[in-house]
Amino acid sequence: MIEAQKQPSNQPRVYIFDTTLRDGEQSPGCSMTVPEKLRMAAKLVELGVDIMEAGFPIASEGDFQAVRKVSEEFPWVQVAALARSTKMDVERAAAALEKAKRPRIHTFIATSDIHLQYKLKKSREQVLEDAVRSVELARKYVDDVEFSAEDATRTDIDYLEQISLAVVAAGARTVNLPDTVGFSVPEDYAERIGRIVRLLGDSAIVSVHCHDDLGLAVANSLAAVKAGARQIECTINGIGERAGNCALEEVVMIMKTRNDYYPCETKIVTEHLYPASQMLTGIITFGPQPNKAIVGANAFAHEAGIHQDGYLKNKSTYEIIDPKSVGVPEGKLILGKHSGRHALKKRVEELGFAELTPEQLDMVYQCFTNAADNKKGFTNEEITEFIEAARESTAEKVT
Ligand code: KIV
Ligand code: ZN
Repeated sequence: MIEAQKQPSNQPRVYIFDTTLRDGEQSPGCSMTVPEKLRMAAKLVELGVDIMEAGFPIASEGDFQAVRKVSEEFPWVQVAALARSTKMDVERAAAALEKAKRPRIHTFIATSDIHLQYKLKKSREQVLEDAVRSVELARKYVDDVEFSAEDATRTDIDYLEQISLAVVAAGARTVNLPDTVGFSVPEDYAERIGRIVRLLGDSAIVSVHCHDDLGLAVANSLAAVKAGARQIECTINGIGERAGNCALEEVVMIMKTRNDYYPCETKIVTEHLYPASQMLTGIITFGPQPNKAIVGANAFAHEAGIHQDGYLKNKSTYEIIDPKSVGVPEGKLILGKHSGRHALKKRVEELGFAELTPEQLDMVYQCFTNAADNKKGFTNEEITEFIEAARESTAEKVT
């Protein structure tokens, strides 16, 4: 019987299956060398992910080595290796996981008629047989086998039920229902997931793996959790095929911040979210967009004057997450054309000019607003120049 662990708080546990090193890595601009994967893996361990998918061993020697080395270096971590539902793939995954103490073989085959007809050129019966055979073979090597029905959201639901029951009977402990092409919407996905959760009961964990083609990967994953899914497959910064995967930092922080709505627990140490995002950015060729939730450069920056005023009086007016709780050093106030007097005064004080008179402060504010229309923001040096100018001009008046 496989039951999602209950936490002391009595909230069911949602397992975080990180696939930054596999689905994330296989997207443009994101390839990583084995040493880079090891560096990232160490950060993912600190972050507290439950399962780390380290590669697709049949795809390349690098992927094979990455799975092998991650398993050796982090023996206590559950390491997954991907394999298509073929003998060759499963055996290669098993070989890469040879040294792992907690190995998982993750085998998959497409189940939608579109994929069967155009890609696999196989019948439903043949695909069912391949799926069952590969799970049985994987179970000869490891206890922990996950099966994924690729393109599950465009698969006939009766067939999806049939194949889910068959792979569990063959020994799969986790059944993953990916929204491979990011086609699903939350209500639709929740209904599909709910059906499989009810069908499998305690015999397997139902997992979700959502792509972001319609910008719904996080929303779909959360809808699935509400419907009983207990494993989320996701990546740091949401990297992954095409528009990417469900972003780990977002889905985790939503469950934490809105625990009233998603009463579930993860083991993620959220203080490592921003450092993990930064490390990944340093390894691959791009970082998250500035306005990206949780880890973007502007995620905790307040520019509008009204916002800055409220924030300075009490952070809770405009901040729903303490930046420190996700590892961001401190909330940043960007001084730009929408900034107000309060924010400027605070920056002036932070720069060590707390003794400025109200008149001097007015002058600084005047210089600042005159220049602000043509600028995107001000450096501390530029603010200091305004302060110096105001001090000099008032000093002149006195003498
Ligand atoms: O998107 C997908 O369907 C996948 C599977 C291999 C899990 O990445
Ligand atoms: Zn995927």
